[in-house]
Amino acid sequence: MVQGEVMKVGVVGLGYVGLVTATVLASRGNELVGIDIDTSRIEALNRGRIPIVEPGLDELFRQSRDRMSFHTDFSRLGGCRVVFITLPTPTVDGRIDLSALIAGCDGVARHAPGCDIAIKSTVVPGTARMIGQRTGMNVIANPEFTREGSAVMDTEKPDRVVVGGKETSRVEEIWAFTGAPVIRTTWENAEMIKYASNAFLACKISFINEMADLCEKIPGCDVEIVAAGMGMDRRIGPHFLRAGLGYGGSCFPKDTEALASYARERGTRLSLVESAMDVNSRRILHVADAADRIVPLKGARVALLGLAFKENTDDLRGSRSLLLLSELLRRGAHVTVYDPVVRYAPDGVYMARDLASAVEGSDIIILATEWPEFRQLEKMALSVPVFDGRRLLNPSSFSNYSGVGYSCG
Ligand code: UDX
Repeated sequence: MVQGEVMKVGVVGLGYVGLVTATVLASRGNELVGIDIDTSRIEALNRGRIPIVEPGLDELFRQSRDRMSFHTDFSRLGGCRVVFITLPTPTVDGRIDLSALIAGCDGVARHAPGCDIAIKSTVVPGTARMIGQRTGMNVIANPEFTREGSAVMDTEKPDRVVVGGKETSRVEEIWAFTGAPVIRTTWENAEMIKYASNAFLACKISFINEMADLCEKIPGCDVEIVAAGMGMDRRIGPHFLRAGLGYGGSCFPKDTEALASYARERGTRLSLVESAMDVNSRRILHVADAADRIVPLKGARVALLGLAFKENTDDLRGSRSLLLLSELLRRGAHVTVYDPVVRYAPDGVYMARDLASAVEGSDIIILATEWPEFRQLEKMALSVPVFDGRRLLNPSSFSNYSGVGYSCG
């Protein structure tokens, strides 16, 4: 990777990825201009308030505050040498919607004509090339692989930096501090690396969830032990083999869908990816049925633990827990919810202040998000049935434990 140098850098789209990218780059000495169309978000940021929960971000933001400015006006990007695009690319009717991304890139081309545009948003192959032709700018596909909840660490210490395009040296310079290996390639390869990575991880999760279903049918079987044994094989690896409610969040569900429909439009079927999606879509009913067999849900008082789509975030996008909640309500359960950071409760649902009050008086406890705080349940000497939808807890700490993929005891 080329030697790092500080420069004036723009970030367009200040969601999870954009805010973390902006803050990490400012913390490395770059002068950072952040752009978003949401005025309340910009005002909050200029007052020093970060609107998301992400470990380590607040502190880094405070340290780098004097090198960052936030605006709604694209003309503030003038003089930037690189502008990162971190705008959403939602899936609409099964296809990727690039309208926000195209509008953002057009705005950059108008106001910062000499800069490089680095696309961090997840986009289907051909997008960066198309943006280059449309704007006449030097465009680089520079996908991110950050996970919410560990986004700062993932941005500072990525496994690899992928740069797709013709002239990638400025973007490489910006990320030189990470020391990560660089994959310098075509636009389309860079874009495919991101999609194929997410699709593979989604397949891995659905695979272990299917194994979990089978383990539930075999007395003496525990998918956690099976996954640990599999993961010790270096060809398989231990990551993304946690069985549970399935994958959620803002990326995997939409990216697998967008990739599958992109492939179908090109006359090829990603049958493995489509199967992974199918397995994932059946997880919620599977877990609700399992809970229903333990305690008939109609009229039951259910303590549902966790609303965020995973631990260490307040993000509800694609939350499996929210889907499970709807299913529990549909079956006539009275649900009390507790989440360590999410304070929102849908209509008809009671939001408990803390873990102890959430589980008090319940007929069944269902753990839906893997917050470490929920391990406190192990010390509560509970007699009520516990269904562990994320396999976080130690089964031997409970008198009436069941969980995804668990058929022991
Ligand atoms: C993901 C990718 O990991 C990241 O590289 C990409 O850039 C954005 O999408 P994120 O959505 O933040 O990141 O979360 P991730 O940790 O990947 O988890 C996604 C979902 O899969 C969550 O719902 C999580 O609970 C679930 N999951 C993950 C499992 O069910 N089992 C696992 O073993 C791992």
